[in-house]
Amino acid sequence: MNHMTKIGILTSGGDSQGMNSAIRSVVKTGIHNGFDMIGIKRGYKGLMENDFTPLELKDVGDILYRGGTFLQSARSEEFKTEQGQQQALNNLNDAGIDYLVVIGGDGSYRGAAALQQKGIKTYGLPGTIDNDIPLTDYTIGFDTTLNVVTDAIGNLRDTMSSHERVSVIEVMGRNCGDIALQAGISSGVDAILVPELPWDIEKVSKRLQEGFAQGKNHSIVMVAEGAGTAEDVASFIRDHTNLDTRATVLGHIQRGGTPSAFDRIFTSRMGNKVIELIKEEIAGVALGMENNKITYHTFNEIFETKDELDPKLYEIFEDLV
Ligand code: ADP
Ligand code: F6P
Repeated sequence: MNHMTKIGILTSGGDSQGMNSAIRSVVKTGIHNGFDMIGIKRGYKGLMENDFTPLELKDVGDILYRGGTFLQSARSEEFKTEQGQQQALNNLNDAGIDYLVVIGGDGSYRGAAALQQKGIKTYGLPGTIDNDIPLTDYTIGFDTTLNVVTDAIGNLRDTMSSHERVSVIEVMGRNCGDIALQAGISSGVDAILVPELPWDIEKVSKRLQEGFAQGKNHSIVMVAEGAGTAEDVASFIRDHTNLDTRATVLGHIQRGGTPSAFDRIFTSRMGNKVIELIKEEIAGVALGMENNKITYHTFNEIFETKDELDPKLYEIFEDLV
């Protein structure tokens, strides 16, 4: 390793709040340690298209508090092919980039692992609002999303209580109920439907009716997108009860907004750790946070571990209804 060592960085898959803060931390710490930092635009797409740009300190100024990713993100089917990966590898070799930091979710990690196999030293940072990556308690943007969803539910609660309605709210989480469960707890909702656990819409409807019979003036049901749609759940409740019910899909609003203090600090810590790992020549790993420590595991360890919904949290929720 010498002072011409080049580190590439890209963001891939669905964006998340805190990606900019992660880029800033990797780039600033890298430059302060004498490395050359190269930004790669639009994830693996830009990697295959040679869309590289040198990053200086000034390039990562004023981004700490911005949602999204200034390097932009993309999905690329072509990168999943041998030919696409070979093209990416050639571009990295031509640019003299030996180290690559990939900020993204599980799919992006699989791409990073493929490049590691081909000789590039790769590092994953868990960039997804879904919190669906194993061996880390948090993913980048998850905490911010919980705050966005909690605020949105507060707004819905105002109008639902004025009209004595049921609000069925669909939140993101392709295969994972963490956003629904944790934002549901922080919002004191009446039912949470997640893909990891069986749920019974008849029981939910009964619970809502009992609540109104006991004097509640509104109710809130959370649905993770992987469990079903807000419209289907709302239609069932409308058809099987006398409750006036509205469906709301929060959608991409959940992926925007200024990152929370937690996400800014979490990403700043992981950026620092990546540079430490590069200096120690440890590679082929993804970082995360476990018990408030920044930790890392090989990509294989991560692929072999199942991401689980915390059953204790669901139990806590059930006792709060
Ligand atoms: P996320 O990283 O948020 O899970 P995706 O699953 O869409 O998002 O993956 C992002 C990108 O990572 C894909 O568009 C593709 O280019 C790359 N990718 C996904 N799966 C693989 C794979 N099995 N092998 C190589 N690259 C992959
Ligand atoms: O993986 C993050 C996520 O926000 C999922 O919760 C959601 O299903 C998906 O991305 C939507 O992605 P897009 O609209 O960018 O295709």
